[in-house]
Amino acid sequence: MRPAEMDETVFMRRALALAFRSCGHTRPNPPVGAVVVKGGRILGEGRHVRCGADHAEVAAMKSATRRGFSLRGSTVYVTLEPCSRPGRVGACCDALAAAGVGRVVWAVPDPNPKNASRAARILRRAGIDTDCWARSRDSGRRACAEAARGLIAPFAKHVATAMPFVTVKLAMSLDGRICDEKGNARWVSSAAARRATGRLRERVDVIMVGAGTVRHDDPSLLSHGRRNDDLFRAVVTRSGRLPPDAQIFTDAARERTLVFKVGGEGLRGVMRRLGELGFMHVLCEGGLELARSLAAEGLVDEWIAVIAPKVIGHGPIGSAVSVEKVTILPDEGAIAGGFASELPGLLSEGESDILRNQQ
Ligand SMILES: NC(=O)c1ccc[n+]([C@@H]2O[C@H](COP(=O)([O-])OP(=O)(O)OC[C@H]3O[C@@H](n4cnc5c(N)ncnc54)[C@H](OP(=O)(O)O)[C@@H]3O)[C@@H](O)[C@H]2O)c1
Ligand SMILES: [Zn+2]
Repeated sequence: MRPAEMDETVFMRRALALAFRSCGHTRPNPPVGAVVVKGGRILGEGRHVRCGADHAEVAAMKSATRRGFSLRGSTVYVTLEPCSRPGRVGACCDALAAAGVGRVVWAVPDPNPKNASRAARILRRAGIDTDCWARSRDSGRRACAEAARGLIAPFAKHVATAMPFVTVKLAMSLDGRICDEKGNARWVSSAAARRATGRLRERVDVIMVGAGTVRHDDPSLLSHGRRNDDLFRAVVTRSGRLPPDAQIFTDAARERTLVFKVGGEGLRGVMRRLGELGFMHVLCEGGLELARSLAAEGLVDEWIAVIAPKVIGHGPIGSAVSVEKVTILPDEGAIAGGFASELPGLLSEGESDILRNQQ
């Protein structure tokens, strides 16, 4: 089948699904996925698993070769423009050229302006066709590019500013409360919302909370998701008053807890330090004072408001009233998009079985 006759987005969506699994593990590199295709069939697939490991294109080519396929004349779909300068590993453009692939398609250009579009020049010089979907007129391809952009948003910000991408997530009731009159926040949101939070925790680099939340809730910040051994926790404080027996200081992951005693440089200084350490994506999970401070310092890139269909009022959370039907009317156009919301529509569960089903 010629590329023009089939829906190529299925391959890019597969590459995106692979990249998605790497979020939260590749710092300071981007999460990237790739598949190798010939005659409409996936020969191999791969992703960048962590810094220092093979880049996605190389991992995908190796997987095809391992299965005994020749790469000659194949098409490689990759979520991000292949790198054109050698770094910790060799440049992918060279590897693609050496393998004799016929065509390379990527969803978005390298966010570093020094590298953007270099791959196309280098690959074409090696006789390889190239295609970047960032400005495609086809809506399916554009959707892939949007998803790829969302995936690398933390990396792109880190490359451009040396600061991490900051997501604030707060759960609130319909009457705008994040906890009850005693400060209890647990169970504001549903089990499903907590599972979604778990999935978000699996793919960020750092979870940050204010000292008030540690003092009041003693959260582990690790529950609800699959274990992410690359995840750090950070707590910010002015007073330094932190309970030494809190879970984040005593559990098995305590080595990965950072404390920031914030001084004159404010939270911007904290973020700068996290950026220097290579962290690309910080998820702030409250409380209110920290979230507000981040917003006041202009540090919030994305805000996830989990709105529970409940009215808490001035009683305990246990007696919150549930509401059947809620209409949410965004107040301004800013509500939409972002790292968290781009992918779900594109990634249906079944896609992860493409390769298995073919064989
Ligand atoms: N619904 C939700 O999603 C959710 C999530 C988390 C927490 N909560 C609830 O929120 C309540 C806690 O709220 P909160 O506003 O008191 O908590 P918080 O923001 O977690 O903690 C406030 C404390 O954090 C430190 N802090 C905050 N901003 C800072 C800044 N700019 N620089 C330096 N340090 C800073 C200060 O610590 P020091 O006092 O040590 O100086 C401050 O007193 C709890 O009841 C918790 O259950 C709700
Ligand atoms: Zn590369």
